[in-house]
Amino acid sequence: MTTPSDHGQDASAAAGTGAPAGPASLAELERRAAARRRRPAYGHDALIACDRLVRVFTADGVEVQALQGLDLLVAEGELMALVGASGSGKSTLMNILAGLDVPTAGAAKVAGRDLLTMDAGARLGYRREVVGFVWQQTARNLLPYLTTLQNVTLPMQLSGGRRRAARTKAAERLLSMLSLDHCRDRRPHQLSGGEQQRTAIAVALANSPSVLLADEPTGELDSHTAEQVFTAFRTANEELGTTIVIVTHDQAVASEVRRTVAIRDGRTSSEVLRRTERDAATGRESLVAREYAMLDRTGRLQLPAEYTGSLGMEHRVLLELESDHIGVWPDRPADEGRAEEGSGDGPEDEAGQAPEPGDARTGMPGTADGADA
Ligand SMILES: Nc1ncnc2c1ncn2[C@@H]1O[C@H](COP(=O)(O)OP(=O)(O)O)[C@@H](O)[C@H]1O
Ligand SMILES: [Mg+2]
Repeated sequence: MTTPSDHGQDASAAAGTGAPAGPASLAELERRAAARRRRPAYGHDALIACDRLVRVFTADGVEVQALQGLDLLVAEGELMALVGASGSGKSTLMNILAGLDVPTAGAAKVAGRDLLTMDAGARLGYRREVVGFVWQQTARNLLPYLTTLQNVTLPMQLSGGRRRAARTKAAERLLSMLSLDHCRDRRPHQLSGGEQQRTAIAVALANSPSVLLADEPTGELDSHTAEQVFTAFRTANEELGTTIVIVTHDQAVASEVRRTVAIRDGRTSSEVLRRTERDAATGRESLVAREYAMLDRTGRLQLPAEYTGSLGMEHRVLLELESDHIGVWPDRPADEGRAEEGSGDGPEDEAGQAPEPGDARTGMPGTADGADA
């Protein structure tokens, strides 16, 4: 159903939508058009809304499709993780959300700002006030010749507004919230890796951004230190209400957030949601995780490779609508079972030819051509 090459298709091309019998009346068509107009736009209430985002890089005449129609909605106040294999497009997405890169096509909105149409001035304001970011390389986050306090007050100073005393006070509050009081007057080289990343979080929060983005922030840290850095993100989310998106390889981090979205080949492919459930009998609470596949607005679904592989599904599958689910079946001849039982009513048998393995795809309902035989 989902192939990387068909992402330009129109929604109306989706097969199997039950069309009503007979032509609709004019009044009915008008009613439908009005209903469509009233329907809120995709992601209208999300803080981050990526709609069929595409980013193509061209290097030495070779085209790389880093994002291939990625959809993602993040609600205000969420703390979520993005996971995916190396090269799947995570950093490309983060750079776009950070306002450092511009998508090739699609739409991306963050806190009401349109990331495709911002001019240079708006982009600078966006990076200073709407988003904060923390990178994997600790050295990229902090200025080496400034103390922790100065690193945190610098973004406040750059965006103007507050007086010096107010800036210092606000910075000290952030340092205290992230348990960094003891680091106030040290320079980055006098801090541990974990302290550097927590300081980077404080710097990113300096101008009270709506969104905090972090690209593998614990990638260079051991697991114990990574845990402390993750706690700092959680604190920021809980105490300041900042919406946070963390790209991570760290399974421990990914399993501690309520929502983990997986990216595969430049698209969001699946999502794990976790919630606490209380056992009615014992009263004990436990964290229950469920994995979901993403369904895009045109009805495309990406099936896990393990599932399709284990049933030998390729190119196309048969769908059946049931009252409460949709069945997905491998594309096999409808009469394969009967042929094995030796019944003589198949068309090939009538023609005196045994079906060959190579004919396996000609038995699908509605496909009469056997051109590949
Ligand atoms: N500036 C660039 N120029 C050319 N190709 C790029 C550039 N940035 C990323 N890519 C390519 O885009 C794909 C996605 O990269 P990236 O977003 O960095 O993946 P991830 O962060 O998930 O490892 C990769 O194939 C990468 O080589
Ligand atoms: Mg990356």
